[in-house]
Amino acid sequence: MDQRIVIAISGGIAAYKTVGVIRELQKRGYGEIETILTDNGSRFVTPVTVGAITGKVPYTDTFESGRALSHISLVQPCGILAVVPATANILAKFAGGIADDFLSTAYLACTGPVLVAPSMNTEMYRHPATVRNIAQLKDDGVHVLDPDAGYLACGTEGPGRMPDAEIVADMIEFILHRHIGGPLSGRKVLIASGGTSEPIDPVRTITNRSSGRMGKALATAFALAGADVEIVVGTGSSRYPAYCRQTTVETALEMMNAVMERSTDADIIVMAAAVADYTPETVLQEKKKKNEDSLCLKLKPTADILKTLGTRYEGKKILVGFAAETANVTEYAKQKLAEKKADLIVGNLVGVPDSGFGVETSRAVLVQKDGTTDTYEKISKEKLGYHIVDKVQKMLEIIR
Ligand SMILES: Cc1cc2nc3c(=O)[nH]c(=O)nc-3n(C[C@H](O)[C@H](O)[C@H](O)COP(=O)(O)O)c2cc1C
Repeated sequence: MDQRIVIAISGGIAAYKTVGVIRELQKRGYGEIETILTDNGSRFVTPVTVGAITGKVPYTDTFESGRALSHISLVQPCGILAVVPATANILAKFAGGIADDFLSTAYLACTGPVLVAPSMNTEMYRHPATVRNIAQLKDDGVHVLDPDAGYLACGTEGPGRMPDAEIVADMIEFILHRHIGGPLSGRKVLIASGGTSEPIDPVRTITNRSSGRMGKALATAFALAGADVEIVVGTGSSRYPAYCRQTTVETALEMMNAVMERSTDADIIVMAAAVADYTPETVLQEKKKKNEDSLCLKLKPTADILKTLGTRYEGKKILVGFAAETANVTEYAKQKLAEKKADLIVGNLVGVPDSGFGVETSRAVLVQKDGTTDTYEKISKEKLGYHIVDKVQKMLEIIR
C-alpha cells in the first residue's frame, strides 16, 4: 500500500497555514511529502517556499514539460490527497467533475483517500451551492474536515476558519493509516487518561501531577494501528488526537462511571489515568475560611476501577493497567497484575526527574500475565505506547 502524502494548496487566505501543516507532518516522521499548488494557491504561498520546505518541486501545471502525465502517476497509487485549504471553487470543481487544472485533474485520477479542509468567508461557506458541493463530496467518499468557527481574515465571525495545523495533521495521519489498514482494524479500545480532581469546597480540590501524556501516546499508537479509540479524559494539559472520541471527567467517581459505561463495547481497556485513591468524605458547600488552626481533612477511599474491570472482564477483554511507584517497580507491578486480574501492567518509576508525571520519558517495566517482563531503562512515552500496542496485538493473536 502506497503511503505517499500529497498536500494540495488552493487559493484561500489560509494557504499560509499549510506550511505549518507540512512542518507538523515532517515533525511526526513523514519525510516524503509531495505538493500541488493551484495557480491561485501560488499567489498566497509561492512554489519556492513550498519546494524549499518539502525538498521537492511542487506540481502546478498539467502541461509542464518533462512531467506530463504526473497528474496520474502522482496519485496512482497514493496514501492520501489532502486539499488544505480547499476553496469554494475547488470544492465546486471536485463536486462537478471538472478537470481543468492539475489539482482537479489529479483529484479525478486519485485512487487513494481524499481529505478536503474547506476554508472561506462564512457567507461563502453557508451558500447553498457550497453546502450542496460539500454534501456531494461526502457522498462521493471524500473526507471533509469541518472548519472552525471564529474570527476570520475578512473581519467577520463564524464558521470558515481552517483548523490549527496539529488538527489538520491529525486527520491526515489518521486517514493515511486507516487506508494502509492496521493490525488492530475493527478493534475497539477504551483509554482512561490524565488525573482526577477531588473537590474539598467550591474553590479547592485535591489533584495530582498527571499530564495525560502517556494516555495521549497510547491513543495515537492504538488509532494508528487501526483501532477505534475512545478516551475518558481527566485533568492534565495534553491535547489528544482529534480523531479519537473524547469524554471529559473530573472526579474519580465520574471517571469510574464513564469508564464502566463505555467498557461493554471495548475489546481492550487501558487504565492509564492517575485516579485519586482517596476523596474528601464530605464536600464543603461554602469556601473554607483561613484561620490559625490546623485543618484536618477526612478522606475516604475511592472505588478501584481497574479491579472492578478485572473482576468483570477477566479472560473476556484485554485489560492494561499502570502502576506508578517510587521503588521496587517490577515487584509491585507483578503484585498489581495478580490483584487486579489484568493482562498487562506498565510499572513506571516516579519521583525521579526523567520518569513519571509531566515528563516526556519513562523508566518502565511491562509485566504480562504469562510472566514475561520487559524493562525499559529510559524510553519516550511515544515509543513506550507503540511497545504496549505491540504486546496487546500479540495477546490478541494468541486468543484468536
Ligand atoms: C485575498 C483573497 C482571499 C481569498 N480567500 C479565499 C478563501 O479563504 N476561501 C475561498 O474559497 N476563496 C478565497 N478567495 C477566492 C479564491 O482565491 C478564488 O475563488 C480563486 O478562484 C480560487 O482558485 P483555486 O480554487 O483554483 O485555487 C480569496 C481571494 C482573495 C483575493
